[in-house]
Amino acid sequence: MSTWANLGLQDSASPLMEQLIFFHDHALLILIMITVLVGYLMFMLFFNKYVNRFLLHGQLIEMIWTILPAIILLFIAFPSLRLLYLLDEINEPSVTLKSIGHQWYWSYEYSDFNNIEFDSYMIPTNELTTDGFRLLDVDNRIVLPMNSQIRILVTAADVIHSWTIPALGVKVDGTPGRLNQTNFFINRPGLFYGQCSEICGANHSFMPIVIESVPVNYF
Ligand code: CUA
Repeated sequence: MSTWANLGLQDSASPLMEQLIFFHDHALLILIMITVLVGYLMFMLFFNKYVNRFLLHGQLIEMIWTILPAIILLFIAFPSLRLLYLLDEINEPSVTLKSIGHQWYWSYEYSDFNNIEFDSYMIPTNELTTDGFRLLDVDNRIVLPMNSQIRILVTAADVIHSWTIPALGVKVDGTPGRLNQTNFFINRPGLFYGQCSEICGANHSFMPIVIESVPVNYF
């Protein structure tokens, strides 16, 4: 989970999140190079001697500064597309979890595992124990096995919600009348916190998600 002064991405707990972090760093590096170059050029304009003020056209330089940014954009576009299709891949999941967004709590169903169904509410601040996280802990956690492919189906019963776990690189909208699908693979045990990410009403901030990742034999 995110703690004090953690302004960047959280540590990844899945291979897809690892790839997302790599892509973020890659895109940021390109962004920094462009910013430095443009910043330098803008600064140098202050020292312009106007030696070319009668110049009306320059085919070559126009060619260069049109094609060069296009090529640079391809260096972002191709890894982005690769990641997009990687995120969409469902690799023979062993468990399916269905998350249903309600105003304002999540309910879960393990449709292919003993038909377990339960609701998951945030623990109010006045009922928190000393080891609980305010606005983040829930009464019933989702327990999932680590090192296995997990399929997530997301929908909603009333308005649009969004099932989001930053450490796993998952963010899927739950839309009434639709069933969205995604998948992830948790590669370490622990508690992973998430929150609803679609402005869904008065208590939008108070419908957190907690995943408890355990070894398969404990699951
Ligand atoms: Cu549910 Cu915001």
